[in-house]
Amino acid sequence: MRTILITGATSGIGLAAARQIAAGGGRLVLVGRNPEKLAVSAERVRAAGAGAVDTVECDVAAQDSVRRLAGEVLDRYERIDVLVNNAGGFFLGRSETVDGVESTFATNHLGGFLLTELLLDRLVASGSARIVFTSSVMHFGATMDFEDPGFRRGYSGQKAYSRSKLANVLYARALSRRLAGTGVTANAFHPGAVATGIWDAAPWFARPVMGVVKRIFMVSSEEGGQRLTYLATDPDLGAVTGCYFQGDRVKAPSRVAQDDAVGDRLSAVSAELVGLPARSR
Ligand SMILES: NC(=O)c1ccc[n+]([C@@H]2O[C@H](COP(=O)([O-])OP(=O)(O)OC[C@H]3O[C@@H](n4cnc5c(N)ncnc54)[C@H](OP(=O)(O)O)[C@@H]3O)[C@@H](O)[C@H]2O)c1
Repeated sequence: MRTILITGATSGIGLAAARQIAAGGGRLVLVGRNPEKLAVSAERVRAAGAGAVDTVECDVAAQDSVRRLAGEVLDRYERIDVLVNNAGGFFLGRSETVDGVESTFATNHLGGFLLTELLLDRLVASGSARIVFTSSVMHFGATMDFEDPGFRRGYSGQKAYSRSKLANVLYARALSRRLAGTGVTANAFHPGAVATGIWDAAPWFARPVMGVVKRIFMVSSEEGGQRLTYLATDPDLGAVTGCYFQGDRVKAPSRVAQDDAVGDRLSAVSAELVGLPARSR
């Protein structure tokens, strides 16, 4: 049975995509940090027709938790056909995780990085597997500063978010180079401006306006989920790798996102931050 693992599967784009993918059968592994939300989400995905639905608890911002998730996944599943790194958040004020990493970088990039690295051999052994990263159009204009990736100086929620989404594209592209010839693909995408809970992190004074913007200008979680579903399942994309998608089309990402040296350095710096040896394949 095909096994598809999705992080951030308890709301918004990830949950919508899980339900859409479930309609095509296979085993869905839903990853979330909140057990109650995971149970409700699993019921909804089961109702959509999945062959099997499993849940695993994980706080992707905490490296120990990601290691436990990876261990459980490797114990339970002989194959992983699709890994979707979708969990993400926006942090108005600067904070650090238990590992001492800035929260946006840790949640939106480093958690998915560590999970992917720990599952990589199983993905390769599974044959034509796919790795998908939910990035954002916000990566345009972002910078990467390896001396201060978590904005100890000059933090803003928007700058940190944009940098983390740039990291998604850089890492997807770096992975695609490493995985050349294995049959495993790695791509990143922008799901559109989607009316999900992520916007609840807006400052209190902007929330009434945000409510109106969400209703009038943003697409639904279903529509955002369809973009993820497309990347995770469309047969035409079996050999497409190292790409950034916007609205179901391949688009050139930002100039810095296309810089392979920056992508390789990000992989090395990220490996150091999570205590993995720098790897080359
Ligand atoms: N909405 C947009 O317009 C938009 C645009 C571009 C990119 N994106 C990206 O799309 C992805 C999904 O976001 P969304 O818009 O669907 O927002 P959402 O509804 O808030 O969903 C975010 C998901 O990530 C999970 N998550 C957040 N922090 C986590 C952590 N530390 N550990 C485990 N899970 C965690 C959330 O879990 P809980 O349910 O427990 O909160 C939730 O399932 C994110 O990567 C986001 O950056 C969104």
